[in-house]
Amino acid sequence: MDVTLTFKVNGVERTVTTDPERKLLDVLREDLHLTGTKYGCGEGRCGACVVLIDGRRAFSCRVPVSAAAKRSIITIEGLARNGVLHPVQQAFLEEGAMQCGYCTPGMVLSAVALLREKPNPTDEEIVAGMNGNVCRCNGYVKITNAVRRAAKAGR
Ligand code: FES
Ligand code: FES
Repeated sequence: MDVTLTFKVNGVERTVTTDPERKLLDVLREDLHLTGTKYGCGEGRCGACVVLIDGRRAFSCRVPVSAAAKRSIITIEGLARNGVLHPVQQAFLEEGAMQCGYCTPGMVLSAVALLREKPNPTDEEIVAGMNGNVCRCNGYVKITNAVRRAAKAGR
């Protein structure tokens, strides 16, 4: 049976009426048209669908939309402010840390979550923090450099 749920997405209160078991990823993409969040594996193994829920990394393909009720969700569309890229987005751009770009929204949001918890991560902490995000173009060197650059910019 459908239920009506309210949550904040990118700072804006949104209401959806839907099956509470639908995945957050599907609601974001299909109902709210926020297609920056990508479908990759659908089973928590690639990170293409990463969003932030209350500031923490979440694999939205694994989250029933009902679990997001009353919480604050940030998708890649919500990171820039007034046309200015988030420092992590800027760092990815400056490092050229994308090829096809399919993994990039999830990578950026995972990096934001990582740097929020560890503003000065070691290389090991970057690898651990980004674990779960897969780049099928194998762009890991530049992605890691971008996370380092963003950390440096935040110091
Ligand atoms: S689509 Fe969610 S982890 Fe792959
Ligand atoms: S840039 Fe293509 S999947 Fe990462």
